[in-house]
Amino acid sequence: MGQGIMQLLKSETAAQHKLTEQSMSLEGITSKESYKNLLERLYGFYKPLEPKLHPYASVHLKDWSERQKTNLIARDLRGFGHKPKTLDALDNCTSFPNLRTLESILGCLYVLEGSTLGGQIISRCLKRQGIAENQLHFFSSYRETTGQKWKAFAEQLEALEPDPQMTISAASETFNAYARWMSKS
Ligand code: HEM
Repeated sequence: MGQGIMQLLKSETAAQHKLTEQSMSLEGITSKESYKNLLERLYGFYKPLEPKLHPYASVHLKDWSERQKTNLIARDLRGFGHKPKTLDALDNCTSFPNLRTLESILGCLYVLEGSTLGGQIISRCLKRQGIAENQLHFFSSYRETTGQKWKAFAEQLEALEPDPQMTISAASETFNAYARWMSKS
């Protein structure tokens, strides 16, 4: 039997994950201001992206409503004094992979959901750097259920039997879009 789709996604995007992880440079988050900047960037990525995922994700993932994270970032940003108006004024990413097939949605979600695993490490690190718990909603999205949520996502993705190559391409393009957006000056 060949490798499962989740294993393939992991191995085929491992190099991109490594680069993303390195470029996140948590040591660079040395002040509340730099954390705020990071959250603002993330908000500008998730806010336009999640509605694009919604048409397929709401049909194919039974727990999609619990997986959206734009509001968690907004909550964290409100702790920095942001209001709905100032949130609306933030820059939004406009360059996303084409998200009009089930495979493209699943590949993209693989990246977003997988990032919650790293989120656990990131939130621990940020806590040590003095960021308050009530400003870490996004990075600790699923808290103690992170492992379960990841497993449930993997099972749903596998059961949908998406075309592996198309799904891997979408995951890879999502990593690229994320890297481009997060490093944009
Ligand atoms: C400092 C930043 C990061 C660290 C330390 C980190 C660390 C980790 C760790 C420890 C895992 C679990 C690996 C395993 O169980 O085998 C993981 C998985 C993953 N991370 Fe990250 N991560 C970071 C950032 C990101 C970001 C920003 C993204 C996406 C935008 C991302 C996407 C993923 C994906 C897709 C997986 C799932 C890999 C799999 O298929 O098992 N990570 N990460």
